Amino acid sequence: MTITIERLNPKKHNRNDFNCGEPEINTFLKRYATQAQKTKTGDTFCAIDSTNPSTILGYYSISPINADVFQNIKGLPKRPNHCLLIGKLAVDLNFQDQGLGKFLIHHAFKTAIFGMPSIFCAVIVDLKNTSKQLTSFYSKLGFYELTEKRWFIPMKEIEKIFRLMSDRPVYNGLIHYNLLQL
Ligand SMILES: CC(C)(COP(=O)(O)OP(=O)(O)OC[C@H]1O[C@@H](n2cnc3c(N)ncnc32)[C@H](O)[C@@H]1OP(=O)(O)O)[C@@H](O)C(=O)NCCC(=O)NCCS
Repeated sequence: MTITIERLNPKKHNRNDFNCGEPEINTFLKRYATQAQKTKTGDTFCAIDSTNPSTILGYYSISPINADVFQNIKGLPKRPNHCLLIGKLAVDLNFQDQGLGKFLIHHAFKTAIFGMPSIFCAVIVDLKNTSKQLTSFYSKLGFYELTEKRWFIPMKEIEKIFRLMSDRPVYNGLIHYNLLQL
């Protein structure tokens, strides 16, 4: 199975059959993700199996936000600044628990770091809920709690992660990738 990440293309990708188990997140992909692309307010990237290129295995949506929330956090600028918000992250039920969610987050890091390395000072996620499972998922990926449902990781730490991972595959099992080859 070879997985690639592609920018959402409504003419190519089948949004209707995607089901992550959360109706609101499925609906975002079907109804709103392409609107954000059209209005240039956000973008969506999909994990696709190259042998079945219309099927969306998972996706994440990003947009820029101004954050003036870092006043007391060492190493982050105090003035209002730009962050990359991962507003949505989801993996189809058939592919959950195989490393794809982590892979999508790392791809979002890559989008932030190689696209705009000196523009965003952090990546932020809005958690859908505060279940132990979800907070542990983000904590293991290096995120810190900012508010109960809003977590962040400074760009400097993302850079460190990329340096550490640049010479070895990221996951065993379903996905064998070197991050720098994405
Ligand atoms: C949360 C989600 C994106 C994780 O993707 P995934 O591909 O299953 O996750 P991975 O295989 O990369 O990572 C597995 C980890 O996610 C956790 N996880 C699995 N399903 C989960 C779920 N429904 N909710 C929260 N965490 C979940 C597992 O406990 C596992 O933790 P571990 O590494 O400590 O064992 C996926 O479960 C999902 O799409 N859930 C529904 C949509 C959703 O809640 N999105 C909210 C994101 S804020």
